[in-house]
Amino acid sequence: MAMIRVNNLAVSYGSGEHAKQVVNDVSFDVAAGETFGLVGESGCGKSTVLGALAGRNKNWSGSIAIDGEQISTKRTRSQLAMQQMVFQDPFGSLHPRHTIGRTLLEPLEIHGLDQRQERIEAVLRDVGLPTAFRYRFPHQLSGGQRQRVAIARALILKPRILLLDEPTSALDVSIQAEILNLLKDLRQREKLTYILVSHDMAVIAHLCDRIAVMQGGAFVEVAVREDLLRGTVAHPYTRTLLDGSRGYVASRSGQTPIRTRSKA
Ligand SMILES: Nc1ncnc2c1ncn2[C@@H]1O[C@H](COP(=O)(O)OP(=O)(O)OP(=O)(O)O)[C@@H](O)[C@H]1O
Ligand SMILES: [Mg+2]
Repeated sequence: MAMIRVNNLAVSYGSGEHAKQVVNDVSFDVAAGETFGLVGESGCGKSTVLGALAGRNKNWSGSIAIDGEQISTKRTRSQLAMQQMVFQDPFGSLHPRHTIGRTLLEPLEIHGLDQRQERIEAVLRDVGLPTAFRYRFPHQLSGGQRQRVAIARALILKPRILLLDEPTSALDVSIQAEILNLLKDLRQREKLTYILVSHDMAVIAHLCDRIAVMQGGAFVEVAVREDLLRGTVAHPYTRTLLDGSRGYVASRSGQTPIRTRSKA
């Protein structure tokens, strides 16, 4: 069964005569355990699709089903906990004056979960950080460590789905592969399903089973990973994206860590 099933999704910003629809008629399924990639030029609507799935943007129509359950624009707590977002900027996404422990405590309080200290320690271990990091502030961490904290915060409610919005593009090149490999491990260990937005086709090819190419708020193509690696993509726009990252995708390896780079 599909973990995520989206049909005829349309998403708008604003209301009344100022309403602007930025996502049109998007449909896709993501199987449990799959990583579904979303690529496309800036402003095409990738983050908006994730926002609608995560319950951050309520101005949507169409249908969204998570693990077989239809989601309405009003969600229960457990529906909200099912999917968590990780953002590009590990500097901006953590509160600068809250310790890591406090940042991780917050979702537990909101969702009324017990065994809080145990959960905080366990999730820090899960993302490869020392448990003593709970006493630190974000400025006392490296960029990669902060992104691990952001991933820990996403995981602490035990979601089934992570919505990853450019999770490595703000990081130093040498750290990117580390975080990608952590995401890959977590997917397997925690049996997670991912939707991953990235501009980096090497990142996409490393992690994704299928890839949707967006343009102007709509899907123009859904390709499988092998198509990207072989270059046998159908849509001219997908080809343009692929040409922009030539060499990086071809030098990928399915198992060993890759070094990712920004666009050529
Ligand atoms: N809060 C908002 N209010 C109004 N319009 C918005 C808002 N957020 C995004 N938009 C518009 O919606 C469209 C899609 O934006 P979105 O952020 O989803 O693009 P994106 O594909 O994630 O781009 P990028 O790759 O730059 O992150 C853009 O035209 C953008 O200007
Ligand atoms: Mg975006």
